[in-house]
Amino acid sequence: MLERLQKILSQAGIASRREAEGIITAGRVAVNGVVVTELGTKADPAKARITVDGKPVLLEVAKVYILLYKPTGYMTTLKDPEGRPVVTDLLKGVKERVYPVGRLDYNTEGLLLLTNDGELANGLMHPRHEVEKEYLVKIRGKASQEQIRCLAAGVDLEEGKTAPAKVRMEHESEKNSWLAITIHEGRYRQVRRMCEAVSLSVVRLKRARYGFLDLGELRPGEYRLLTVVEVERLRVLSR
Ligand code: URA
Repeated sequence: MLERLQKILSQAGIASRREAEGIITAGRVAVNGVVVTELGTKADPAKARITVDGKPVLLEVAKVYILLYKPTGYMTTLKDPEGRPVVTDLLKGVKERVYPVGRLDYNTEGLLLLTNDGELANGLMHPRHEVEKEYLVKIRGKASQEQIRCLAAGVDLEEGKTAPAKVRMEHESEKNSWLAITIHEGRYRQVRRMCEAVSLSVVRLKRARYGFLDLGELRPGEYRLLTVVEVERLRVLSR
């Protein structure tokens, strides 16, 4: 977000706003290497390199950790070129710029973490850490024992075989059934492609669990902040 330079300098604890004006007009402030002396000048402290006397201005940004129940019909990107809703539209009370940890398809619902803690997010997304993700999958009709066995053993996708998964039949009827599939990889549209590979038609897909976190009482579109203890447990998972 664009802010006046004097506000940025005072938020960084460098000077009061009044003093910051003097620092700016004295030509001591540069934005992306260019000295700025005009008082109305704005910059985005999250993107621009701002220096005073050549030293970078460091803004302490509060770290935020959010668990969102993503509804279907939202993109996990921050902007959509086609103008579709994005998940951050749902975070009305959150002023920090947060990013999704991984992705869920437009038509997939369920648990999505968002944070501005890049180190934690990258750690969690790293394939080495293999965080378990449980999906509830509504399929057309029933799944045979053979289809369930194949999903669990690993199926051949274009880029290679999937790792073994835990697969459980949750509910079965002639019209629709629900499977619980737990994977620890995070390939593109993985669950849908796994089901497709064994000729199962997915009607609905919901991520119910991410590591030790579940959706609890949240309804689609609702979110909550993670507790300090939950953040610490995630940190352990990400190391
Ligand atoms: N697998 C999928 O196919 N889609 C998702 O959104 C998540 C996992």
